[in-house]
Amino acid sequence: MRVVTLAAEDDFEGWRDAARALAAARVPPGDIVWQVGAAPADLFGDEAVLGGSPTQLRVPRRFLELAREVVLHSDPERFALLYALLTRIAADAHVIDDSADPLLQRLERLAKAVRRDIHKMRAFLRFREVIDDAGPRFIAWFEPEHHIVRANARFFVDRFNTMRWSILTPEVSLHWDGETLSEGPGASKADAPQDDPTEAIWKTYYASIFNPARLKTGAMLKEMPRKYWRNMPETALVPELIKGARARETAMVKTARAAPGSNSLAAWEALRDEAAACTRCHLYKHATQTVFGEGPVDAPLMLVGEQPGDQEDLAGRPFVGPAGQVLDRALADAGIDRGKAYLTNAVKHFKFEPRGKRRIHSKPDAGEISACRWWIEQELLLIRPKVIVALGATAARSLFGKVMTISRARGAPHDLAEGGEAWVTVHPSYLLRIPEATRKAEEYDRFVADLRAAARRV
Ligand code: URA
Repeated sequence: MRVVTLAAEDDFEGWRDAARALAAARVPPGDIVWQVGAAPADLFGDEAVLGGSPTQLRVPRRFLELAREVVLHSDPERFALLYALLTRIAADAHVIDDSADPLLQRLERLAKAVRRDIHKMRAFLRFREVIDDAGPRFIAWFEPEHHIVRANARFFVDRFNTMRWSILTPEVSLHWDGETLSEGPGASKADAPQDDPTEAIWKTYYASIFNPARLKTGAMLKEMPRKYWRNMPETALVPELIKGARARETAMVKTARAAPGSNSLAAWEALRDEAAACTRCHLYKHATQTVFGEGPVDAPLMLVGEQPGDQEDLAGRPFVGPAGQVLDRALADAGIDRGKAYLTNAVKHFKFEPRGKRRIHSKPDAGEISACRWWIEQELLLIRPKVIVALGATAARSLFGKVMTISRARGAPHDLAEGGEAWVTVHPSYLLRIPEATRKAEEYDRFVADLRAAARRV
């Protein structure tokens, strides 16, 4: 029997190196005990196994991606299950493509639970402000179900880069001082501040989402598990919401007649109104207004552009200028009803350079995209489209949080952290810029084909 001791619960690299060496040495799954401990030095009960070169075993990338997620699950069997699949893949690489394989299915379920937990931490973690010697610091308490905290750290560093913050969880704490991320031991809820009056904005936002009828049916519980309510300032409102149920229900019945799904509509309106006052980056200073998304709040298809252009900035609506006209024609040719899709932009303010009386479009930079990501994430969380189409590189960068090459990414779905599948295609203004007629027509046809392929998934 060999005992493999990994450095931590989320030690993917440790598991991968050990598993590769063990599989190359053909050690059967039943001969290994996987454990997590503080002393990774004694990685193998039998040093001889290290003689097998880890590089001898070629592992499909898909398996490694799966393993990277599964390792974060709290199931103590996960290391052994992954190793069992690895040994089968070593004999036949096609196992990873056999969607009916029960072991693969089980591991995919674990990966899905991990992704959900990562997403919940991003969506439901709330910071409270405290003042210490160096000024404001933001502290959040969160209880994940799986070992996802370190894997999520980069997201919070990117999102809250200029703030000093700490995220406390039972297993580990993360601290960001504006420059360096450090780790500390686990904490308890009592270590985090319990209340913060500055969170009124969240309370308003969630008050419009929380709906007493749904509270009673439990539909909202499904959306936002009770476990998370405890740590969210807005949930202090729940008793009040229940108390006011009768009045709200009457109002709801009225608005429900006016617009189906009006509960989400109210939340979307609150979000749009909040975005109207956005100063998250400097672009608001020169633009006429925030151009928020538009469309049904339960749209199964969301189209994401780059930023409003000159005409959109004046009209306050996305895609009403020249690029919008190309988009409208392509949507019609792809059999998509624009009125049934939700249209929005990665950046919600027009960025331009003044040239005489004209305002010339200027591409948003990484900082502006990242500052505005907040809004698109909220739109995704509210609308929950099944399919999202990124129109161009800026939209893709915003949705995936990294630079994407359109030619490589186009033509296939990609999972989004917020849920739903994203398709990447060109921006309609790219088509406007192609001078040569035959190429223009070909590229237009490809664009329509991309839209059609995405719409088929809805
Ligand atoms: N281009 C975009 O990306 N979005 C718009 O809304 C208009 C033009």
